[in-house]
Amino acid sequence: MRKQPIKSSEITPESVYLNRRKLLQAAGISTAALSAPAWGQTTIAGDYASLGELKKSPLSTDAEPNSFEDIASYNNFYEFGLGKSDPLQNSEKFKPKPWSVTIDGEAEVTGTFALEDILKPHPVEERIYRLRCVEAWSMVVPWAGIPLGDLLKRFKPTSKAKYVTFETIVRPSEMPGQRRATLDWPYREGLRMDEAMHPLAILATGIYGRELPNQNGAPLRLVVPWKYGFKSIKSIERISFTETEPYTTWNASAPQEYGFYANVNPEVDHPRWSQARERPIGAGFFASKIPTLMFNGYADEVAGLYTGMDLSRYY
Ligand code: MTE
Repeated sequence: MRKQPIKSSEITPESVYLNRRKLLQAAGISTAALSAPAWGQTTIAGDYASLGELKKSPLSTDAEPNSFEDIASYNNFYEFGLGKSDPLQNSEKFKPKPWSVTIDGEAEVTGTFALEDILKPHPVEERIYRLRCVEAWSMVVPWAGIPLGDLLKRFKPTSKAKYVTFETIVRPSEMPGQRRATLDWPYREGLRMDEAMHPLAILATGIYGRELPNQNGAPLRLVVPWKYGFKSIKSIERISFTETEPYTTWNASAPQEYGFYANVNPEVDHPRWSQARERPIGAGFFASKIPTLMFNGYADEVAGLYTGMDLSRYY
C-alpha cells in the first residue's frame, strides 16, 4: 500500500524559515547560533577522503563556490529529517560502502553492478555548478562527477527507452526519516532521455575534490544544473530505462506545485511563493536576493530541449 505522503503545506519555504529566524533574533537568540548545526555537530573537508587530481571542466560556472561547511551542513535530504541541519545530524550511521547499483528496464545490458565497476572507465571531473532549490535559495558547489550520458550509454538503452528513472536506497535502520511516511519512499526522480544525455547532467561522487558526505547524497547523486534541486536525487541505487513518463516523488505528492520537468523558470511562480529571485546561501542574512535566470543561466545550452513546449504547463 502506498504511504500517505507529506502534505505540501508542511514543507517550509525559505521565506518562512528566514522569518522564523528574524523572530528568534528579535527574541535575543543569535543567528550564528541558528546557522550552526544544532548540538555542536560540525563537518570539515578533511574528514572525507580525497579523490585525487580532478580534470577541470570548461562547463563550470566562474561564480565563487560556497564553503565546504555551507554545502555540507545546509541540506535537504528527507530520509534524514525535514530540517536543514537534520541530514548532517542524522546521517552519521549511514553506510555508503559497499554500494551497488541496479540497472533495469529498456536496455541491452542490465543487472546489479558494484559502484566501483560502473564508475571505473569514467574520468572524474570537477564541475562548478549552482544548485537552485525550489524553496528559492541557491548554492554554488564544486561537484566531482562524471557525465551522466556517458555512463548511461554503456548500458545500451533500446529504442523504447524514452525516460530514465532514479531511485534512492530504502534503509530505515540507517535513515531515520524513512521511519515516518513523510514521503512515499523510495524517493524517485526521472528525466527524459535527451535531458539525461545532455553533457551538463552529471552523476556526482564528491564535492571539493573529496568523497561525498552522507548528507550530500553519498555515494552517488544526480546533479542537473538547469533544474530545481529536487531533481538532484541522492544515494541512488537503481537506474531504470522506461518507455513512459515515470512516477516521481514530488510530482506525485504535490502535482500542482512540482511538475515532472522542474526546469528553473523564474516566470512560473510556485503556487505559494515567487520563483523570480533567489537567496544565495552564505551571502549573509541581510544580503538581498538575486534575480533567478531562466534554466538557471543555461538557456543557451538547454532551451532547445524544450522547443515547442508550453513551459507554464510542462513546469
Ligand atoms: N534526494 C533524496 N533522496 N531525498 C531528498 O529529500 N532532496 C532534494 C534533492 N535530492 C532530496 C534529494 C532537494 S529538495 C534538494 S534542494 C537537493 O537534494 C539538495 O541537495 P543538497 O542538500 O546537497 O544541497
